[in-house]
Amino acid sequence: MTNRNSLCVRVDYTNMLAESVGEHGITEAELSSMMPRMRWAVDSLRAKRDSIRWRDLPYNQAEIVADIKRTAEDIRSRCDDFVVLGIGGSALGPIAVHQALCHLRHNDLPRDKRNGPRLFVEDNVDPERMAALLDVIDLDNAVFNVITKSGSTSETMSQLLTVTRILTDRYGEDELKNRLIATTDREKGNLIGIAKRLGLKTFYVPEGVGGRFSELCPVGLLAAAVCGIDIEALLEGAAYMDALCDNEDPNANPALMLAGLEVIAMNKGANVGVLMPYADSLKYFADWYAQLWAESLGKRRGNERFGQTPVKALGVTDQHSQVQLYTDGPFDKTITFLAVEKYRTEFTIPHAFDDVPNVAFLSGHTFNELITAERSATEHAVTVSGHMNKTVILPEVSAFTIGQLIMLFELQTAYAGELLGINAYDQPGVEEGKNATYALLGKKGYEAKLHELRSAAGKRRFVI
Ligand code: PA5
Repeated sequence: MTNRNSLCVRVDYTNMLAESVGEHGITEAELSSMMPRMRWAVDSLRAKRDSIRWRDLPYNQAEIVADIKRTAEDIRSRCDDFVVLGIGGSALGPIAVHQALCHLRHNDLPRDKRNGPRLFVEDNVDPERMAALLDVIDLDNAVFNVITKSGSTSETMSQLLTVTRILTDRYGEDELKNRLIATTDREKGNLIGIAKRLGLKTFYVPEGVGGRFSELCPVGLLAAAVCGIDIEALLEGAAYMDALCDNEDPNANPALMLAGLEVIAMNKGANVGVLMPYADSLKYFADWYAQLWAESLGKRRGNERFGQTPVKALGVTDQHSQVQLYTDGPFDKTITFLAVEKYRTEFTIPHAFDDVPNVAFLSGHTFNELITAERSATEHAVTVSGHMNKTVILPEVSAFTIGQLIMLFELQTAYAGELLGINAYDQPGVEEGKNATYALLGKKGYEAKLHELRSAAGKRRFVI
């Protein structure tokens, strides 16, 4: 067995500090004065353990994992397309893990070269997208997994209505149980009742596991297992990181240190947090992280407002789009690079134009060397321009390290919530938009909201 410690995800925070980036960095005094609160945050989070059940997911799912693996094997043996219907926390984790751990062009590969069915995660209600999905999937060999913890999200329920109608018309209601799987709360919401009535195979989102913290429960594990991902290694990685991040010493607890640094940076005016993976496999991890960080920390307490706007970037691609801003722009941000030490492929740049020295210097190097050099170079450029940055280092991208990364960022978010003194697990700001949608679509009980919306519509100003 691989030595797990050699696969430990590490954090280099040198460039968050003033001694590295200068006046806009964090001073020793600022870090020292945050230390007691950071130690307190560990205890405070421990005391909440009963309500933050996502921390238990690496330890308490043996039976569920066995069930997921059985179900996934059945799906893999009889289906070509696996379609997740869900949004927010019910979609971003499955997308991120699939991109990280499957072939980068998984869906484009022919069946015999692909490890499992194609995966589609439908997290929008753009009518063109729904039509496009139906154009490309092979309905006869497709299985749908409708995921909604609340069991009532309009976007997901409208997708469910669409798919149920199509499947029923084509195969009859009795066939739904072979083509539709539900993942939802055990008791609450509308989906559980529908699932029971139709006799659907159902997985549950455990209590105390909110949407954006749910990747390591059946929400994410079923799609991962269907795509051939080692879900036990994912959970092992998460357990490994959870144990590290229970330490009261911030120097031995990566999530706590990351949270402490970001909170100090926020207090110094860093309102923007960029996550920049240097790997296409981690591109959608930045999407998953953006929701986790934004929805958890964007909160209001009285007149005080909290949060940091997450920005997604991809190295090296966005060096040619955003890095100008990260060097010469305002000191309102932190940048977190995600580095990969060992890519799964090595690719050598061949010789072709040895007579053109400005091109020939690349030949003989590998793409691996090039992307690594560009990451170091960008880190240097950002640092010498005085901007706070840090690097989270993955020895490799594997189920074990991705499990670690998920738990690391979940715990970073949880610790940041403690340090800021806010509830990181609710999302009251999302409710207003949901209620307005209900009103616009004529849901009973939302008549007053409709009136409010119509009055506001009369005050719009247009150009042209
Ligand atoms: O993190 C959250 O709780 C939200 O982003 C939800 O995941 C999102 O709103 C979808 O909710 P549900 O799974 O209930 O459909």
